[in-house]
Amino acid sequence: MEIVLSGIRPTGNLHLGNYFGAIKNFVRMQEENQCFFFIADYHSLTTHPKPGDLHGNVKQVLAEYIASGLDPEKATLYVQSDLPETVELYLFLNMNAYLGELERVTTFKEKARKQPDNINAGLLTYPSLMAADILIHKAHKVPVGKDQEQHLEMTRTFARRFNRMYKEDFFPIPQAYNFGEALVKVPGLDGSGKMGKSEGEDNAIFLVDEPKVIRKKIMKAVTDSGPTQMNQQKPEVIENLFNLLKIVSAPEVVDHYDRLYNQCTIRYGDLKKQLAEDVITFTTPIRERILEISANNDYISKVARIGAEKARESASKTINEIREIIGFRHF
Ligand code: TYM
Repeated sequence: MEIVLSGIRPTGNLHLGNYFGAIKNFVRMQEENQCFFFIADYHSLTTHPKPGDLHGNVKQVLAEYIASGLDPEKATLYVQSDLPETVELYLFLNMNAYLGELERVTTFKEKARKQPDNINAGLLTYPSLMAADILIHKAHKVPVGKDQEQHLEMTRTFARRFNRMYKEDFFPIPQAYNFGEALVKVPGLDGSGKMGKSEGEDNAIFLVDEPKVIRKKIMKAVTDSGPTQMNQQKPEVIENLFNLLKIVSAPEVVDHYDRLYNQCTIRYGDLKKQLAEDVITFTTPIRERILEISANNDYISKVARIGAEKARESASKTINEIREIIGFRHF
């Protein structure tokens, strides 16, 4: 049976990008594989969250994960900071991670540009922590969105390097996975290309958003002044809206608006109204489950406790093997 692992940072509510880029795959994968899904709370420290916010954010993401279909009976659902073994592996991997390769990572360069006053070592070594998350369970498959592709490539580099130095075939070489399809990139509403929680309030549609909020955000989405020639290529902001429509609406609906676009008779307001209603139809049952589950503290605590126990069994086995391979011995 193959081992699958994926994670999410607890820096805000889950949005459609998280769902269609990653979580949708988790739900299918938990039926056929040994799955570990975790909340990357150590990773979230790169942006210095307030101590008072951290725990509540983790709890909220746990509730939203479960509401999105992750089944704690089938998959191991845990919180990263419950697994100190990950940090030990992070340290070992950092000893063989080089400044040049870490500085070349696109997300590092982007973050460094966005937060010039806080370019910390955790940001630089983000890929080694993510590699530790994956390698601590010797995972084979990592269901993620397209934005995580480069991090996965780094994980493969670190795994191969460790194998070459210490023991061939110790770590499996993990692959990004989307059931044989290309990895997904869900666009945002502000024309910036990617839906993300740190891209500003109106970029992302959250699973927990009320219908009226969803309508408002979508009606405000960036468009252009409309096509002027039959069958002209769509500019990126319009392509983004169509891509969202493809994700939540029926193929006939997408074809309908495509035809109107090609005939230059499209009214973006109609397309947006349709998109909003289809998003609401999709998110409403999930929102209702989120509200129900997040009110049940005992249940969430139990899931995290049992998840931590199961995850630690797997992680402590790997870390003991690694210590032995590297040459640490007990006195
Ligand atoms: P994070 O928290 O940014 O996102 C969680 C998951 O959602 C996917 N995703 C998207 N997919 C498609 N389109 C989008 N607009 C979009 N936005 C987010 C991400 O690809 C991801 O799968 N570094 C990771 C967290 C992490 C991790 C790991 C993931 C830490 N360790 C180990 C996998 C394995 C991150 O920041 O994801």
